[in-house]
Amino acid sequence: MGEVTIGGAKNAALGILAAAILTDEEVTIDNLPDVRDINVLLEAMEDIGAKVERKGRHVVRIRGNSIDSIHVDGEFVRRIRASYYLLGALLGKYRRAEVALPGGCDIGCRPIDQHLKGFRGLGARAEVEYGMVVAEAENLKGGHVYLDVVSVGATINIMLAAVLAEGNTILENAAKEPHIVDVANMLNSMGANIKGAGTDVIRIRGVERLHGTEYSIIPDQIEAGTFMLAAAVTRGDITVRNTIPKHLEAISAKLLEMGCEVVEFDDAVRVVGKPKLGSTHVKTLPYPGFPTDMQPQISVALALASGTSMVTESIFENRFKYVDELARMGAKIKVEGNVAVIDGIDHFMGTSLTAPDLRAGAALVLAGLAADGYTVVDEIKYIQRGYEDFDEKLRTLGAVIEQAEDEREMKRFKLRAM
Ligand code: EPZ
Repeated sequence: MGEVTIGGAKNAALGILAAAILTDEEVTIDNLPDVRDINVLLEAMEDIGAKVERKGRHVVRIRGNSIDSIHVDGEFVRRIRASYYLLGALLGKYRRAEVALPGGCDIGCRPIDQHLKGFRGLGARAEVEYGMVVAEAENLKGGHVYLDVVSVGATINIMLAAVLAEGNTILENAAKEPHIVDVANMLNSMGANIKGAGTDVIRIRGVERLHGTEYSIIPDQIEAGTFMLAAAVTRGDITVRNTIPKHLEAISAKLLEMGCEVVEFDDAVRVVGKPKLGSTHVKTLPYPGFPTDMQPQISVALALASGTSMVTESIFENRFKYVDELARMGAKIKVEGNVAVIDGIDHFMGTSLTAPDLRAGAALVLAGLAADGYTVVDEIKYIQRGYEDFDEKLRTLGAVIEQAEDEREMKRFKLRAM
């Protein structure tokens, strides 16, 4: 039984940081998670001349008045996906942006055609040239944009450019994730005029300029969900504090179906795992559907449930890479196309695992907590992209977990934990 406090939403923060350079005035962002993806984006912003001043671990002050380049390249761009938000922000503010094609977790083919379609809908030229995405417009004009696929990234990027375009933009088939609403609220606090964020249709009336703001980021839905699943996987009792239960409904519903107890409070959720979990079927979908970013974590729980479960991944085609790792712990999972058929087993057996990406890495840690014996999870740099103090938070909840730099530290840990 324990409590854990959730930090700011990484995927909202990435859009919000890019939004901060849309004004020359000072912007203060609070509840910023201290995770690698955020720190890399801040580096990229400093590299083009923005002033970035840390006011504490979770507070940053940004000033975009000193930006002297619209060319975002370099190693950091390739390390994170969200560097592409600088495209929308720079195009909106300076009417030209050049950003190296983004990297990020290898969870499938990740096209940016919808981002480009959106920029073109605002009258910009947007092309990929020699590995760079180049977007420019003499007159950035509001337009009517219909997204062919529901994309979080494209929705945010188009909002970033459209807030400073001339006239009205209508964005149809927009993503509805909580972080879309948070980015829109932050932009509105800077003087933007965005309506409908959180629905399929977002309407943006362009304004001439934006002003400074102070803004606090919403809690991270996926960090919260990961700890909810930790309770299920370890048969624990965890109260997840500083969260918005409404954002977690799809996850709560599945936990209830599996037989867990879920109690919602105003800004907390308590999950009580049961000795025997039941099977269920899960299909990932855009919000308010079950989040793809929670698919590996729930699959770990289902691998320990009685009966057969089916997990369908409908957002990213390469998000089952962790299944081979789980198989090494004894899990019985068969993947065919975008469906994993999971036959629940009684227990995992600890072994050495490699994190293939951010969420799968976190899921493997949860598997390790439930396994007999020791589990070593390698490549934790992926986990550090999106979880702040993951091991420390789990330790506070009673987990025996430590980061080890080398074999000697690992041996020492094993002796201590015996
Ligand atoms: C965001 O990625 C998140 N990343 C991901 O978080 C998350 O998994 C994903 O949304 C879905 O919720 C950030 O916010 C930085 P999409 P994004 O555009 O924006 C297709 C995590 O673990 N598509 O909503 O890249 C695409 O291939 C991660 O924190 C196009 O076809 O995702 C996918 O099938 C990893 N053309 C679907 O849309 C495009 O131009 C949804 O992708 C864009 C996307």
